Amino acid sequence: MGDKMNNNDKNSKRAFRKDEHIKMFLQHRNGNHNYFQDVILQNNALPEINFEDIDTSCKLMGKTIAMPIMINAVTGGTEYTADINEKLATLSRDYNIPMAVGSQTIAIHDKQAEYSFKIVREINKKGIIIANVSANSSPENALRAVDMIQADALQLHLNTVQEICMQEGDRHFKGILSNISNIIHQAKVPVIVKEVGFGISYEVAGKLSQAGVKYIDIGGMGGTNFAAIEAGRNTERDFSFLKHWGIPTALSLLECRSASPELKLICSGGITKAEEVVKAVSMGASITGISGLILRELLENGIKTAGETIEDLNYQMRVFMLLLGARNIEKLSKVPYYLKGELFELYQQKFI
Ligand SMILES: Cc1cc2nc3c(=O)[nH]c(=O)nc-3n(C[C@H](O)[C@H](O)[C@H](O)COP(=O)(O)O)c2cc1C
Repeated sequence: MGDKMNNNDKNSKRAFRKDEHIKMFLQHRNGNHNYFQDVILQNNALPEINFEDIDTSCKLMGKTIAMPIMINAVTGGTEYTADINEKLATLSRDYNIPMAVGSQTIAIHDKQAEYSFKIVREINKKGIIIANVSANSSPENALRAVDMIQADALQLHLNTVQEICMQEGDRHFKGILSNISNIIHQAKVPVIVKEVGFGISYEVAGKLSQAGVKYIDIGGMGGTNFAAIEAGRNTERDFSFLKHWGIPTALSLLECRSASPELKLICSGGITKAEEVVKAVSMGASITGISGLILRELLENGIKTAGETIEDLNYQMRVFMLLLGARNIEKLSKVPYYLKGELFELYQQKFI
């Protein structure tokens, strides 16, 4: 009984936190750079392609998607967030791009919260839908999250910074790597290990790769900043000293790419422009992940504008691909890129 009370209490706190995260996210504007401004692509004055022949489609996990962009993990668990998930799923279906749901832990402990995640699969029946739990979750709970939404893949999030900034956050970070390995061995779908905005280094990517991880979502610094969001929620301790902490997205991408040529990389963290998508693919990302931009458009301007944002990204991507002489995503991934400024200095210190 005591345990049950404790679980109920924990879950109502989780539900409150889910709604509060959205509210705090909307109030917060990020001030960190993702360093893509230090990546340069060169104009190809002789592309020898017709604009209408540019093809942004690509393959991921056995399915063809319209462009190398996914709606990354955001939410679920409450009535308000079920509505958000329904709309995000509509966008992912209509534009044929993958979508990850937010952490499903709340629904693993409370069946009533399941509908807020299941709605995503109900709306997008054929597309790529990705489950999400903490990398600390038991293998049993991770598999339940996948079953809950018949997911094509499973995201395991690493969020040490976020947990430490949360009054009620986890303080146990030992044994996560072997837990990830166990989950990979038991899961029947691809497993993606992801950060939530603080980046993954060369060293960590190497350890993950050795542990059997094939997909990493680098979740770098430069977009949604959970240190700032959680600092705003914490009434006990001031965590604003962490608001510039993290590996900028473009640097994290270079680091993870250098760690292993076999890793499939999802580049996320402050992706808001087609130019960044194109740069990320040329630097070795399979696709990019966007949370903040699409969520903000959806909540502030509605689903139509959020859809137009995705259309604009696609149109502008095609323009960049033309100007780079890359007819498709395979060709785009081979386009040379150049580094300058702080990004080059940091990369050089480690790798050259
Ligand atoms: C309101 C909100 C809630 C989020 N919840 C989750 C979550 O439950 N699980 C997770 O892995 N990432 C979560 N994220 C992190 C995003 O998936 C992503 O890693 C991060 O926001 C950086 O991408 P962005 O700059 O495009 O927003 C959340 C992001 C936002 C904005």
